[in-house]
Amino acid sequence: MSDKAILQVGDNSYEFPLIKGTENEIAINVKTLRTASQGIITIDPGFKNTGSCESAITFLDGEKGILRYRGYSIEELANKASFLEVAYALIFGDLPNKEQLDTFHSDIKSKSVVDEDVKKIIDAFPKNAHPMGILSSLTSALVAFNPSSVNVDSEEEMYRAIVKIMGKFPVLVAWAMRKIEGLPLNYGSNSLGYIENVMKMMFEKPNEEFEINPIIKSALDKLLILHADHEQNCSTSTVRVVGSSHAGLFASISAGISALWGPLHGGANQAVLEMLESIKADGGDTKKYMAKAKDKNDPFRLMGFGHRVYKNFDPRAKIIKEAADEVLNDLGINDPILDIARALEQEALSDPYFVERKLYPNVDFYSGIIYRAMGIPVEMFTVMFALGRLPGWIAQWKEMRLRKEPIGRPRQIYIGENYREFIPIGKR
Ligand code: SDX
Repeated sequence: MSDKAILQVGDNSYEFPLIKGTENEIAINVKTLRTASQGIITIDPGFKNTGSCESAITFLDGEKGILRYRGYSIEELANKASFLEVAYALIFGDLPNKEQLDTFHSDIKSKSVVDEDVKKIIDAFPKNAHPMGILSSLTSALVAFNPSSVNVDSEEEMYRAIVKIMGKFPVLVAWAMRKIEGLPLNYGSNSLGYIENVMKMMFEKPNEEFEINPIIKSALDKLLILHADHEQNCSTSTVRVVGSSHAGLFASISAGISALWGPLHGGANQAVLEMLESIKADGGDTKKYMAKAKDKNDPFRLMGFGHRVYKNFDPRAKIIKEAADEVLNDLGINDPILDIARALEQEALSDPYFVERKLYPNVDFYSGIIYRAMGIPVEMFTVMFALGRLPGWIAQWKEMRLRKEPIGRPRQIYIGENYREFIPIGKR
């Protein structure tokens, strides 16, 4: 195959070099197009055919249902690694040895106290505030309490900012949940592992001895690994674009949290549970909701189905579906919502509308069933997604800064009014 692309516009043709990745993906590098053609640009709403960067962090093949972090398969990582090991691999490039992991965890623990004044910000929120709004606000507020972590250029300064956010973010996640549950804001213990500490902060009751449930610990480790990164998704692209202005790591992650909140993205896990609850309240009438999902006049979509990249099963959904079975069995929970989810999946997988459009269950379809079994409120599901995605956001932000990527500033095609004279208000 030729190593260049030729674009013919009218009588002019333009040549562009091809870029080939380590998994043989091909891109046309059009960065000289506008200059060479005196103004012609490409346009691609939703960036369905447009790459924003070259990245060495995550590889996914949507047609084959492949997902790898730093070359390691998601199946092996989910079943053999800990979330902190995966976070280290995403951020620094390779799975750590024991000494590297212990040092990383120790540095994180040393920065896991959040300024007491942050509690005053939490006090100001109404109890019914959505925890994603609390989390994005508090993450942005961290800048005020950690000014040295704003515009960092050196890898040493980045490392300090990284261990700070890895230490403080789980506290903010736990405090957001305890705020909406009316529980006192607490700390975990630096004597615990990363996930166990998250569990203690989230689930500890003020009047009970807290015990780690190994089933929940294992399921949470796996869920956070499955959410840890996913190449250039909406929220990660947001982190990269905001970071490209040198806004700093905490502000970039706060922007990513807001992007993740949308029901078409990370907010889907909450929307899936609400949809399944509606179907249950409607007598389990899955056919009615399938019809709504196919009705072009109905804005309803089958939440947890479809994906911009996966046109095959989302490999994460497969793992989470198996984990949902295990966790509910191990916890002795019989949740009719799981039966409704399975029925919906079976119907969709044999329905021509979904089959033709290659709409399969995605990562959000089953995850909420497990979070609910853990006793996590539905409004917190997307916050849990953010907790998992944190190392991916960090890794992508770090890569973008170290590669000195240019500020993200797309072009447009103007379709508004042509020039017109200003008319004084008295004459309008
Ligand atoms: C995540 O990008 C990532 O990697 C994201 C993520 C990550 O890890 O970061 O994987 C996490 O966000 C998963 C997706 C969670 N969202 C949902 O479950 C919400 C429901 N899904 C859809 O809204 C939709 O599938 C998207 C947003 C996920 C993808 O949308 P696209 O790629 O823009 O596809 P589209 O909207 O152009 O849909 C193509 C067709 C359309 O029909 P036609 O116009 O061709 O007739 O499929 C239809 C859509 O109407 N369609 C659906 C549908 N999803 C797509 N119809 C009914 N129900 C759905 N869920």
